[in-house]
Amino acid sequence: MSKIAIGIESTAHTAGVGLITSEGEILSNQRALYVPEEGGIHPREAANHHSEKLPYLFKAALEEANLTPDDISLVSYARGPGLGPCLRTGATAARAFAYSNDIPLLGVNHCVAHLEIGLLEGATDPVLLYLSGANTQVIAYAAGRYRVFGETIDIGIGNGLDKFAREAGMGFPGGPKLEKVAKGDELLDLPYSVKGMDLAFSGLMTAAKQKLDSGHSLSTVAYSIQEIAFAMSCEVSERALAHTGKKELVLGGGVACNSRLREMTAIMTEERGVKCFVPDRSLCVDNGVMIAWLGLQMMSADYKITEKDNEVDQRYRTDMVEVTWR
Ligand code: ATP
Ligand code: FE2
Repeated sequence: MSKIAIGIESTAHTAGVGLITSEGEILSNQRALYVPEEGGIHPREAANHHSEKLPYLFKAALEEANLTPDDISLVSYARGPGLGPCLRTGATAARAFAYSNDIPLLGVNHCVAHLEIGLLEGATDPVLLYLSGANTQVIAYAAGRYRVFGETIDIGIGNGLDKFAREAGMGFPGGPKLEKVAKGDELLDLPYSVKGMDLAFSGLMTAAKQKLDSGHSLSTVAYSIQEIAFAMSCEVSERALAHTGKKELVLGGGVACNSRLREMTAIMTEERGVKCFVPDRSLCVDNGVMIAWLGLQMMSADYKITEKDNEVDQRYRTDMVEVTWR
């Protein structure tokens, strides 16, 4: 029988409420983005934003899908990883909705949700290139878990782009703003840091700022950042595909909205004879639909809800999740 889950996302700057059926039909994907007035994301202020917006997002989602709480069989929320105050706000909203309507409550892993929504696109056993604000990971399934094959050893790629853009006076979020201005035929010499299967972005962003300060145009610097950072990401994904022998690549995370990244991964996968799955941009960024979808996947394998599902975990790593539903 078809089931409907509601998903609540609040790990960082996005508050989201999504509705999806067990057949994968998306009924609503409501999102509200916290934009700091200046500087980086302030966890307490982001949490205040989420607590203000979430009630409206619940209402809008139910209205768009023309549903009442009685139609919903699972409340799924992102219990981590993320910023403590933001996670607690989302969890509180999820609890309130679940308990007041007598619906089971399940806490899921945000990173695994980014991967699973790629499976909804038709992938079966992919390597995930997960590029978001806080996270940069290359993930694949092996022996009961999603394993992290490579990741950033300093900052997430998106946070790096945001930081550079902020220092260049462009505002938040920086990734899409840099994409708009990135143009050029001159590739500047910036640090290309791939260490084994891991990546580093901090030095790249610092060097890029120095190039800007020394008189190179913003469009050339933005272009060069994208070329180098995305080439690094492609290299590690390609090596993960080679090592695992997997034949599918899924893109996820906010940076996966970038057209140049999509183009570069398309070239790499085509050359390798690998299929590339690129979810719609509204599903790449943080969203409640992917949280609801992962909850449904877990429940389909008779996952037993425990006390832990009621607690947030700021450091809930991808490979801590036992994958029982595959
Ligand atoms: P996570 O908790 O998974 O780390 P997140 O909270 O950072 O996620 P996402 O919505 O997955 O949130 O990603 C946001 C990031 O994506 C921001 O750093 C933003 O600059 C970046 N981004 C969004 N669109 C683009 C784009 N077109 N090009 C490059 N970066 C982008
Ligand atoms: Fe995310």
